[in-house]
Amino acid sequence: MVASARQYHITTFGCQMNKADSERMAGILDTMGLTWTDDPYQADVVLYNTCTIRDNAEQKVYSYLGRQAIRKHEQPDLTLIVAGCVAQQEGEALLRRVPELDLVMGPQHANRLQDLLEQVFEGNQVVATDAVDIMEDITKPRRDSTITAWVNVIYGCNERCTYCVVPGVRGVEQSRTPAAIRAEMEDLGRRGFKEVTLLGQNIDAYGRDLPGATLEGRHQHTFTDLLTYVHDVPGIERLRFATSHPRYFTERLIRTCAELPKVCEHFHIPFQSGDNDVLKAMARGYTHEKYRRIIDTVRRYMPDAAISADAIVGFPGETEAQFQRTLDLVNDIAFDQLNTAAYSPRPGTPAAQWDNQLSEEVKADRLQRLNHLVNTKAAERSQRYQGRIEEVLVEAANPKNPTQVMGRTQGNRLTFFPGDFATLKRQLVPVKITTVRPFSLTGEPLQVAAIAG
Ligand code: SAH
Ligand code: SF4
Ligand code: F3S
Repeated sequence: MVASARQYHITTFGCQMNKADSERMAGILDTMGLTWTDDPYQADVVLYNTCTIRDNAEQKVYSYLGRQAIRKHEQPDLTLIVAGCVAQQEGEALLRRVPELDLVMGPQHANRLQDLLEQVFEGNQVVATDAVDIMEDITKPRRDSTITAWVNVIYGCNERCTYCVVPGVRGVEQSRTPAAIRAEMEDLGRRGFKEVTLLGQNIDAYGRDLPGATLEGRHQHTFTDLLTYVHDVPGIERLRFATSHPRYFTERLIRTCAELPKVCEHFHIPFQSGDNDVLKAMARGYTHEKYRRIIDTVRRYMPDAAISADAIVGFPGETEAQFQRTLDLVNDIAFDQLNTAAYSPRPGTPAAQWDNQLSEEVKADRLQRLNHLVNTKAAERSQRYQGRIEEVLVEAANPKNPTQVMGRTQGNRLTFFPGDFATLKRQLVPVKITTVRPFSLTGEPLQVAAIAG
């Protein structure tokens, strides 16, 4: 039996997928009668939901674990859990490295946390990293927000990008059924949530694995069909989705996004490199020309769409001229936001074995040059908002200025404006933008009647 006074804490690293998993695991711990604490050093059950996308992400968790392991010697009933992608990658090896651990569980096991913890409370040390069919979610996630929510639509990834650990740690693609996704969204709508972000590592792959996926050779359950199917869920005013893979970002999907009014005009489509030979070595399956055509098509249907992406610099063998082509692409497309990273060799990935690795100095230098360009471009892109009226979904008080509230525009720009959070909470407010910064905006709220007239 679990004593009801036990407190738990979860620290989450990595992507939105991990954040969504953490919310579901927190929901399970709540149901088990534990209570949340913000302080990882007060908690009786500590869970690190980890990320291994780059080496620095992985190393972070070891330093936290070191401190908790020391604490466990003074407090033997402390339960120490490592979940997520490092857990999946390291498995048993993690127990040898940190023998104080009670539970090591891969991301596919997140929904089984109760079952696994019960085995721990019986005195076992448990490793759960085998590939499984992900259990349909039966617990209520403990969501960070009461206004915006993540909803998983597809787990895993079937791509084989040569630098990436995700297929190894998240397993093969598993789509949830349209009915389960819609039911979760209807529940969110009833509870007052206004915005849903549909999640998948490669969201356009949605549905390929569902039974009856094809009928007479045509896909029955594409992501485009799913968007149309969930678009009218009552109460949900905004729909977002991430992450899109250029290989699967079709004109049909783009047209559907343009037609469905609740779909926000913000698309996150990583390109990774602007050079075709580097893209080939990465096994991305498209050329920079194809990527540019996709963005052209998006802008043809939605001239003002916000575009963000991810890019890697210093991939093995990348020459200065090849890096220059990434700069060219960034210069030409002018992203609203770009997540940039220096290539990090990862265990078990093909590219890590190659002998044409670049030095840390070259990678750091390229990263700095790319970031400089990204900031300049984002500042230019921001200018278009000056004086415009943008619809902002109010999500919180400005933590730095309580006389202001904050939220996001359709295009996902963080926006501040004067107002009282208690009054404006979860409202969609038209805001006239008065100050633009590269990645955020400030404005004045308008009366709804004023814009209607
Ligand atoms: N599924 C998404 C991205 C998932 S990982 C896609 O295909 O685009 C998130 C980002 O981390 C990637 O887009 C990539 O830019 C970065 N990344 C992945 N592996 C990396 C590595 N080994 N080194 C540096 N960055 C990496
Ligand atoms: Fe990794 Fe490529 Fe899959 Fe994205 S598509 S998660 S980069 S393997
Ligand atoms: Fe990291 Fe795993 Fe996400 S490696 S980026 S937490 S899928």
